[in-house]
Amino acid sequence: MEKSTYTLKTAREIEEKNRLDEVHFAFREYMDGKICFAPIYGTSPTKILELGCGSGAWAIDAANDFPDAEIIAIDLSQTLEGIPLPKNVNFQIADVTQNFPFKQSSFDVVHTRLVLMHLPNAKDVLERAAKLVKPGGWLLVEDLDMRSLVESGGPGVSQVITRYIELLQARGADAEIGRKLESMLKSTGSFSTIQAQRVAVPVCDDGSAPQTMARLGAALKPVGKKLAAGWAQRFSDQGITQELKKQFSEELDTNFREVMLDMHFVWAQRV
Ligand SMILES: C[S@@+](CC[C@H](N)C(=O)[O-])C[C@H]1O[C@@H](n2cnc3c(N)ncnc32)[C@H](O)[C@@H]1O
Repeated sequence: MEKSTYTLKTAREIEEKNRLDEVHFAFREYMDGKICFAPIYGTSPTKILELGCGSGAWAIDAANDFPDAEIIAIDLSQTLEGIPLPKNVNFQIADVTQNFPFKQSSFDVVHTRLVLMHLPNAKDVLERAAKLVKPGGWLLVEDLDMRSLVESGGPGVSQVITRYIELLQARGADAEIGRKLESMLKSTGSFSTIQAQRVAVPVCDDGSAPQTMARLGAALKPVGKKLAAGWAQRFSDQGITQELKKQFSEELDTNFREVMLDMHFVWAQRV
């Protein structure tokens, strides 16, 4: 049994840090320069928590946008240890699959992006994260739906990503979680308002996508490639052959504008 379902490199490695930063900046541009869709601008949050902060780009922007707030950024690995940060960012190593070292109802905003799909017990993490939010505060949850690639991609992309989804499923993780986030939050019963937005990102842009979308596509494309490569290496005996991996890569390198990777944004206000 694999110990961890997380296969990407740590954000301490410069290539991964740069990749995560670019995904962040591309989404920020898409959100008109904001860090989320929730109406938190113009409010005065005092405590903000980022779960699985990676390169720290979101936490650092939160610190700059809300200079009076304390931002706590946690990650399983030492992504931000020893790295200069705004003085209102506090980095801690913590595993979100374990009990949080925080008091219930203690944060105005809790944010997690591109983390839940990797975890074996995302529903439990979401339920515990919901409890950390103060009444009236916001839980912001953002993740991919890899099934969108199966539905829109060619045969190589479909086969590799289907296998990837199955392998994660066998370990309790859900690579389609993006499309389920809204109903998962509804089922907690903890929120008065839940809003959601799906962003279908063209990962094989043929030059016809608007600039913001093209930037998002270029930023997200390596996710699919890296995930598939990582799993192909680990599970070459389970159906992801080198030939299939090559076909997958070639399809992604073709400008096939219909291939979409869906990112789901959900923002929910605590009762
Ligand atoms: C794909 S990165 C996303 C980083 C950041 N949220 C972003 O949007 O750029 C996922 C991050 O989650 C972290 N992570 C994975 N499993 C975790 C866990 N069980 N507890 C805390 N962090 C975890 C990884 O170390 C990595 O930094």
